[in-house]
Amino acid sequence: MRVYLDHNATTPVAAEVADAMHEAVRGCFGNASSIHAFGQAAKAALDDARSAVAELLGARPNDVIFTGSGTEADNLAIRGVAEASPAAGRRHLIASAIEHEAVLNTLKALSKRGWTSTLLPVGAAGVVEPAALEAAITDDTALVSVMHANNEIGTLQPIAELAGIAHRRGAVFHTDAVQTAGKLPLDVGALGVDLLSISAHKFNGPKGVGALWMRRGMRLVAPTTGGRQERNRRAGTENVPAIVGLGVAARLAAAKLTREAARLRTLRDRLESSLLDRIPDTAVNGVGERVPNTTNISFHGVEAEALLIALDLEGIAVSTGSACSSGTLEPSHVLRAMGLTPRRAQSSIRFSLGLGNTDAEVDRLVGVLPPLVARLRALSRTRTAYAPA
Ligand SMILES: Cc1ncc(COP(=O)(O)O)c(C=O)c1O
Repeated sequence: MRVYLDHNATTPVAAEVADAMHEAVRGCFGNASSIHAFGQAAKAALDDARSAVAELLGARPNDVIFTGSGTEADNLAIRGVAEASPAAGRRHLIASAIEHEAVLNTLKALSKRGWTSTLLPVGAAGVVEPAALEAAITDDTALVSVMHANNEIGTLQPIAELAGIAHRRGAVFHTDAVQTAGKLPLDVGALGVDLLSISAHKFNGPKGVGALWMRRGMRLVAPTTGGRQERNRRAGTENVPAIVGLGVAARLAAAKLTREAARLRTLRDRLESSLLDRIPDTAVNGVGERVPNTTNISFHGVEAEALLIALDLEGIAVSTGSACSSGTLEPSHVLRAMGLTPRRAQSSIRFSLGLGNTDAEVDRLVGVLPPLVARLRALSRTRTAYAPA
């Protein structure tokens, strides 16, 4: 039995999505900007997908811009707002210290071009305190970007409250909702944000397609120049099959959202409590409200990389953090921002559940993991005992 518990990295494409994409690749090849019937069929497919995404977000279809990924949606939001501030205007950007690299590295890039930035701290719980934003925001702040749920620990951030603070100071608010779209009900009005990013491959859609929702009337300068696609916001001929896949994934997610969220929460809670009960010296990272499919656990005295490989040999896929930064030996910036020591951060594993996961799969993990942790702990004790002084 192979068990996939890395759904925050990516998810398998749903059969309905694959079927719809296959049909679109073969039958919907027109350029959506063409006036003839082939072009209009492609345009109709885009419009249908736009409506599906809008429904998932409680938004209007015309305010949805398709992008080539969640990363691109984040870039479009942040660079677009930054570039829209007049040269003598606001030059300060704020994000949380636990954002995805798509946001953090965009701020870094802009800081080389004259913008300044502040990263908001998170407490030990992995949640941004509104008071930290109150303290950091100034009349020079153009944009605040705080993710809806963190990809490594799953903590939900107080978005509506943070957006309110940003707006009172005249700043634009963006949220990266890549880890909540399709997992939790979303409503851009209730969240009170101006811009919101999503990515199809996190909810059983294809990779390489995302969307940015943008409040009507917002000023945004598109970083890509070219044709007039996506109402001048994202130049380039649209990837119709991928966007069709995004639309079908959005409808599938919307149809089972509450039911699936409850199912995954029960499964995740059982996974978490069973591991904590059976394995001593373990701790959950990230407390309070979390996205229902995620838990991040430290196994003290164990190298998480070694545990990941041992689990992989047993056919169980987990992760040590974000897929984009795996392969680096740096401890997770998210766990470090929460105040974890490098050692504890490097002993942490992310388990993220999804559509296909079952009770039997959780039982398999709970059966396999305790002896693996015990073996790795014994090995590391032996190594320490024989290490040269
Ligand atoms: C929170 C968050 N933002 C952005 C991204 C990037 O999305 P994409 O892989 O579509 O570029 C990810 C993917 O890991 C993510 O977890």
